[in-house]
Amino acid sequence: MNVTIQQGGIQTVAADAIIVNLFQGVTAPTGATGAVDQALGGAISELIAAGDLRGKAGETVVLYPRGAIPARRVIVVGLGKPDKFDLEAVREAAGAAIKQAQKVGAAAVATVVHGGGAGGLDLAEAAQAVVEGSLLALYRYDAPRVQKENDDETPVDSLILVEFDAVKIGAVEAGARAGQIIAESVALARTLVNQPSNIATPTALAQAAQAMCGEVGLICRVLDEPELRAEGMGALLAVTQGSDQPAKFVVMEHCPESCLTQPPVVLVGKGVAFDTGGYSIKPAESMLGMKADMAGAAAVIGAMRAAALLQLPLRVIGLTPLVENMISATAYKPADVFTAKNGLTIEIANTDAEGRLILADALCYAGELKPAAVIDVATLTGAKGVALGSRTNALFCDDDVLREALLAAGQKTGEPLWRMPLDPAYDRQIKSTVADLKNSGGRSGGAITAARFLAHFVGDWPWAHIDMAGSAEYSGGPEDTPRSYLVKGATGIPLRTLVEYLRSVVE
Ligand code: BES
Ligand code: MN
Ligand code: ZN
Repeated sequence: MNVTIQQGGIQTVAADAIIVNLFQGVTAPTGATGAVDQALGGAISELIAAGDLRGKAGETVVLYPRGAIPARRVIVVGLGKPDKFDLEAVREAAGAAIKQAQKVGAAAVATVVHGGGAGGLDLAEAAQAVVEGSLLALYRYDAPRVQKENDDETPVDSLILVEFDAVKIGAVEAGARAGQIIAESVALARTLVNQPSNIATPTALAQAAQAMCGEVGLICRVLDEPELRAEGMGALLAVTQGSDQPAKFVVMEHCPESCLTQPPVVLVGKGVAFDTGGYSIKPAESMLGMKADMAGAAAVIGAMRAAALLQLPLRVIGLTPLVENMISATAYKPADVFTAKNGLTIEIANTDAEGRLILADALCYAGELKPAAVIDVATLTGAKGVALGSRTNALFCDDDVLREALLAAGQKTGEPLWRMPLDPAYDRQIKSTVADLKNSGGRSGGAITAARFLAHFVGDWPWAHIDMAGSAEYSGGPEDTPRSYLVKGATGIPLRTLVEYLRSVVE
């Protein structure tokens, strides 16, 4: 997608569609919408007066200027109530409007920066949200089909952000550029999650990460099984031992010259390419979604891409342990005992609690990097989904500074997080009689005992664990908050939160 900025009045822009907006409750449009209304002889005011346009969030109407202005179509999108207006409302409006533009076959689309004028938002952030909402709404997974869906659709191929005020152009440009980098990174993450696990194997995922690193100038190292053995990653190796697909461990590093001596922020993503549950096998329906059990890894790979392209003046290291959890004659079994990288021994209470095993070794590896902070993201427990559903993700973090920064980042990006307890009192549930720990604490407080398990592999540095089970994929069902910029399939959550967090650390 070609994203450009243009200065001037949007009513003068020649495009297949121009997008303006309306707050709910406004009867006499002002600003860009007012200018277009005037040029159209009051056509928008008439729609409002007739009750056909109310400015409700996500509402769209299409008008045909019939030569009154150069544009072929005008799309008015509702912004909702002014007191509920925020960056998420901008993404929502931008996504709804661009989908409407796509539907009517507009290739070149111009839009105002929603919220830049009367909305009172920071202009660069609003421009970023417009680009994010637009590009994310148009994301499609290119499925391997002979009979292509939507192949009669004209894709939107250019998006022009129009700003009237010349002094604001710089801010719009900066925001739009960041928005495009972030949205394209989310698209990469979504595609990795959408690919079936026979394609997106640990090896293929490592190759994708490596290719991305090559493109954007990140240092990348892929550890293979002999190296993982040398690292002492007995917990990770236990999970992979039933699979014919070799495990991989990707280390991606963003290290600007000015940051060589900085302690890094380390991002860790659970990368289970497919989770059958192992001998503690999952029922068929639960297994079906488990190609998305590497969504944490995908988010970390995408976040590293964004960190590089945004040229963040910050040292960031991304780690993705990549395995498949399978059943075979060589697979690990319930009651087996393994030794993790830090020497702790683990009794396998349940082979389906595999995510915490690969994360345990990855967290130990992170600790050896002398980190400023470690954040892991994982589709870790069904219990998280039971507790919080798909809309909100669970944040486990007892470091006040890191936690507040992550909560703020999640709020800003529309990927909400909710604090959960990390009380060591829960450790009683994961005590083992034959090892230091066991990998399942049972059903009660399942997301918390999983987080407590991870805590045993973290040293004395700020650490946050995000359990994102249930929000890797969007189904559009009643449990999913409808969002114009999510399409069925992978969401890319919580990539934008990670990037927003990194940007907030820089500031
Ligand atoms: N990948 C699953 C968690 C999951 C469940 C993610 C549903 C997305 C949707 C994880 O590996 C798992 O199986 N966890 C078990 C842990 C239990 C055995 C202690 C679970 O939640 O049932
Ligand atoms: Mn599992
Ligand atoms: Zn899993």
